[in-house]
Amino acid sequence: MKIGILTSGGDCPGLNAVIRGSVLQGVITYDAEFIGFRWGWKGVVEGDFMPITRHDVRGLSKQGGTILGSSRTNPFEGEGGGPENIQRMLDANGIDAIIAIGGEGTLTAARRLTDAGLHIVGVPKTIDNDLAATDYSFGFDTAVEIATEAIDRLRTTAESHGRCIVVEVMGRHVGWIALHSGMAGGAHAILIPEQPQSIDQICEWVESVRERGRAPLVVVAEGFHLDEMEEAHSHKGLDAFNRPRLGGIAERLAPIIEERTGIESRDTVLGHIQRGGAPSAYDRVLATRLGMHAVDAVYEHAWGSMVTLRGTDIKTVSIAEAVGSLNRVPQSRYDEAKILFG
Ligand code: F6P
Repeated sequence: MKIGILTSGGDCPGLNAVIRGSVLQGVITYDAEFIGFRWGWKGVVEGDFMPITRHDVRGLSKQGGTILGSSRTNPFEGEGGGPENIQRMLDANGIDAIIAIGGEGTLTAARRLTDAGLHIVGVPKTIDNDLAATDYSFGFDTAVEIATEAIDRLRTTAESHGRCIVVEVMGRHVGWIALHSGMAGGAHAILIPEQPQSIDQICEWVESVRERGRAPLVVVAEGFHLDEMEEAHSHKGLDAFNRPRLGGIAERLAPIIEERTGIESRDTVLGHIQRGGAPSAYDRVLATRLGMHAVDAVYEHAWGSMVTLRGTDIKTVSIAEAVGSLNRVPQSRYDEAKILFG
């Protein structure tokens, strides 16, 4: 078989490890041939691809980013977009199947194309860990490591000045990165989208930390909103899938905390640093295994399916099941963490 691979949506540490895992499994086990579409669905719509050989994936699992490039292109738009045009391009180039590595937007598009008859298998990717059908997605562990290191560093400068630091992490509409990095870094409050809080409650936590002679450290997820806000803070417009681009809540909270408590406060937004650089060992292993099993799914003709982590096993589920709902932080996990606040 000739298999096309694409990486689409926001990049994520571990994408290259998936590509390597797929190519090695395909070449060694099935004698498959691979091409890589450039810039995600854009390469599919424009018929822009390059060969990927075993030699090309040498030493790739530790490399951040994606050798194929990524974009948030919608495959149903543009001159070469839509299932008929894409199938024509695949037939013309003898490409039998596509492995689409992406998050919710990418996988939703993959499902719609599979419904129209295209041969696609999905691999879930997101630092946010917000896909319901997998226990963990690769990239999340690395993002948590990066955020935890940043929190450790922020704590020493906060303590030196007796300041309150509000650090904002990514995660879109779920609070996994905030919860895990906040717990690991010993945050005094963790604010997540699943649990809106009042400013009074936040200030109470901050003040109780000061009363103990400590510098308060608040971790806030970009999707968090105060109980008086209708939705998450967004001032950067919409992305290609018409979803609001989040960010800026820390900048909003820090001056309010300072005004109400009298504690000098600063905000820090970690931003895309959470997606950059080498993947952790855990993410390299998970990504490699997902890549290998995606090729098995192609040879099983499991079109419209997605490889997923269940416990320690890699399983296959339908993409429809995967994109139907968000993997939110459950109440029990928040209640557990809350004991550590204040
Ligand atoms: O989904 C991954 C993610 O990093 C989110 O946490 C964040 O809201 C978004 O992507 C940022 O997207 P972009 O790279 O387009 O700014």
